Amino acid sequence: MLQLPPLSLYIHFPWCVKKCPYCDFNSHALNTPIPAQQYLDILLLDLKSHIQDLQGRQFHSIFLGGGTPSLFPTKELSALFTQLFDQNLIADKAEITIEANPGAIEHGKFSDYKQIGINRISLGVQSFQDEKLKSLGRIHNAQDVYRAIDELVSAGFDNFNLDLMHGLPNQSIDDALDDLHRALSLKPAHLSWYQLTQEPNTAFAAKPPDLPNENLLFEIERQGKALIKAQGFNQYEISAYSRDQSLQARHNLNYWQFGDYIGIGAGAHGKVSFPQTDTITRHWKRKNPKLYMTEQAFPYGSAQIKLTERPYEFMLNALRLQQGFSHALFEQTTGLSIHSIQKPVEQAIKRGLLQQNADHLAPTSLGQQFLNDLLYFFLP
Ligand SMILES: C[S@@+](CC[C@H](N)C(=O)[O-])C[C@H]1O[C@@H](n2cnc3c(N)ncnc32)[C@H](O)[C@@H]1O
Ligand code: SF4
Repeated sequence: MLQLPPLSLYIHFPWCVKKCPYCDFNSHALNTPIPAQQYLDILLLDLKSHIQDLQGRQFHSIFLGGGTPSLFPTKELSALFTQLFDQNLIADKAEITIEANPGAIEHGKFSDYKQIGINRISLGVQSFQDEKLKSLGRIHNAQDVYRAIDELVSAGFDNFNLDLMHGLPNQSIDDALDDLHRALSLKPAHLSWYQLTQEPNTAFAAKPPDLPNENLLFEIERQGKALIKAQGFNQYEISAYSRDQSLQARHNLNYWQFGDYIGIGAGAHGKVSFPQTDTITRHWKRKNPKLYMTEQAFPYGSAQIKLTERPYEFMLNALRLQQGFSHALFEQTTGLSIHSIQKPVEQAIKRGLLQQNADHLAPTSLGQQFLNDLLYFFLP
């Protein structure tokens, strides 16, 4: 039986100072001031259109992502949270994260965030080597990162994540390990360590830089993971590591555990379960910020996740987690019996990609390495 899972809120801020050449997120360089008041008003209308999706729930996590949300003026951000708190939409002890760019954070901003109710910072570091930051087209240098960390720690944030990328142009193993060393010595609660991917329709796709070859990438991953582990961090997802289980990213965990989330803002998307009608719906918003604001189509589109698609959609998320998932989680979030996937489960176990432990299924290390092959068994 389909049950109501925890509910999260994602808020998208689509503007950046400059577009990074590797980035295919819905982010746009802005050379005029951010239309903050207009965007705020429309975010609130967008949120209002989701009242029926709440079904008595409050948000157990909120994520302000982008783009560069730290560019958004504090006054309007504060007004947004006043509304969320006044409408009693935020659960007690909810995790509230904002993505911040070390090159787009004014002095005092982290203290403002603390006052607003934000309790977690995700800092887009990418690398500590200035030459690498330059080749990634970043607007900050390593010094800006250290300054940002100093500020956020003095503002009282001990729960912060650092985003790092590896497999960077002309990166050696030592370069990558040096980045990890420097990141972990700053004692973050959480580390997201992504391998740089070449995305279509980016400047890097049009003019590819000199990236490390497969063998080098493999060694960077192997040695990097060993270093992270030796520093006391636990990997719990493909790119996510935390110092302690309680410091795992609750917002992302809810995605990976096939929870519900409402997405507001340009290009945001969401997923909501309706146990009463045994339906699961996806919704999405207009991607182009101008059209999002002028058309005000909430949602811009929506579709049901069909019964036949549910196992694959679930696996796409849950198999990213090292610990996999319980039979109960599968049944509660898909509304299907675990027996309905017995055949693909048995096939994947036989191929050594999946392992069963009492009422738990998890990817083996081979399954983690060849996730697409594992997912293939669950295609509708
Ligand atoms: C949604 S982005 C926004 C973060 C923020 N705007 C920033 O760049 O500082 C979140 C993270 O995704 C990662 N990322 C973006 N593009 C990527 C790519 N092509 N390959 C791997 N990781 C990428 C970066 O580490 C980035 O910090
Ligand atoms: S700052 Fe972040 S969101 Fe903006 S273009 Fe760069 S990677 Fe993309």
